[in-house]
Amino acid sequence: MNIIVKTLFGLEPLLAEELKSLGAREIELGNRVVHCQGDQKLLYSINLKSRLALRVLTPILSFRAHNETVLYKRVRRYDWTDIIDLDQTFAINSAIFSDIFIHSQYISLKVKDAINDQFRGQYDGRRPSIDLKNPDISIDVHCVGKDFTFSLNSSGNSLHRRGYRQSKRIAPLNEVLASGMIMASGWSAESPLFDPMCGSGTLLIEAYHIAQNIAPGLNRERYAFMNWRDYNQSEWDKLCQEARSEIKSLPIELYGSDINGIQINETIELLQELNIDDAISLKKGNFTQLPAPYDQGTIITNPPYDERIKSDDIIGLYKSIGDTLKEKYDGWDAWILSGNKSAIKRVGLRTSKKMTLYNGSIECKFHKYEIYRGSKKTKNSPSEQK
Ligand SMILES: C[S@@+](CC[C@H](N)C(=O)[O-])C[C@H]1O[C@@H](n2cnc3c(N)ncnc32)[C@H](O)[C@@H]1O
Repeated sequence: MNIIVKTLFGLEPLLAEELKSLGAREIELGNRVVHCQGDQKLLYSINLKSRLALRVLTPILSFRAHNETVLYKRVRRYDWTDIIDLDQTFAINSAIFSDIFIHSQYISLKVKDAINDQFRGQYDGRRPSIDLKNPDISIDVHCVGKDFTFSLNSSGNSLHRRGYRQSKRIAPLNEVLASGMIMASGWSAESPLFDPMCGSGTLLIEAYHIAQNIAPGLNRERYAFMNWRDYNQSEWDKLCQEARSEIKSLPIELYGSDINGIQINETIELLQELNIDDAISLKKGNFTQLPAPYDQGTIITNPPYDERIKSDDIIGLYKSIGDTLKEKYDGWDAWILSGNKSAIKRVGLRTSKKMTLYNGSIECKFHKYEIYRGSKKTKNSPSEQK
């Protein structure tokens, strides 16, 4: 079958590698999406094991429509009774990039009407119900110009919802973005990882899962494919069993700190709930004042951008991050994600790698700094000229 895997901007090449390692064939990169070929087992494996997938879709219907009437007719002609049971709920989610079809909600409504009318015609006026929050069957409509593709969403809710975080008090990183940052950094579990502004600990928790090879989907209870007629429970159970047997138990060094004591206490509670408080050390403190926790290692962090989390002196904060790195982190690699372009420049160190990523709708820079004596940016350094 054709499989479409959605991800965040900038993570497509890493997702392609991940899909290859899961056995996907004919992999093609798109914008926030990777296409591939595989079977039911691969579809389940991606849902269970991919750290970078947001949703896994299988296309079922494609056509070209010049207007709403054609759209309605083509949708009504497709046999939806093959996919949705009368007693199931469904939802339509549309993404429209077209001059002809403007409002995605209106398109969702039209598609829903066509599906319902088909059911009414076949089942004596009866039809399945809509559930926008937790539908049994989730249908994804993608339109570019006049070209429509209808896909079944096998994941349901976005896969960044790993099932380990209940409350969302502060602005946590999307788990897919956090995993992408760690994978992009090339961090290996053999060396220590430090997040000095760890907030709710997403980067550290994802790093723990990566290091111990814990499939991100093992904590999740529901996937939309479980409501499909061809759901193969024994195949799914077998994959989960296999994934559990692949979990490692490596000695790893993960360390986090944050200036906000309440946040640190909440994160400690979360780690206790997850039973990983032994594996991740946390401390309350200001990054600029704490000593380095190890002689060398990797820092991956996401300081405030002055957007969702406000800072009185954002420029001063980034300048002090750069000064602290230079002063106390000789021999370390540091990766900083920031949605504040002016502020990240004030780190004042030479960047050795740069990526653009998105944190929600905020365009972010993800910069690598290799810290060694003399890594302070000079006027003519290459990164300053870019
Ligand atoms: C954007 S949040 C990090 C969110 C985190 N990645 C997560 O997933 O929850 C930035 C964090 O930096 C912390 N912070 C701000 N200034 C700091 C400083 N000087 N030292 C340590 N932490 C600081 C804030 O308390 C906040 O928790």
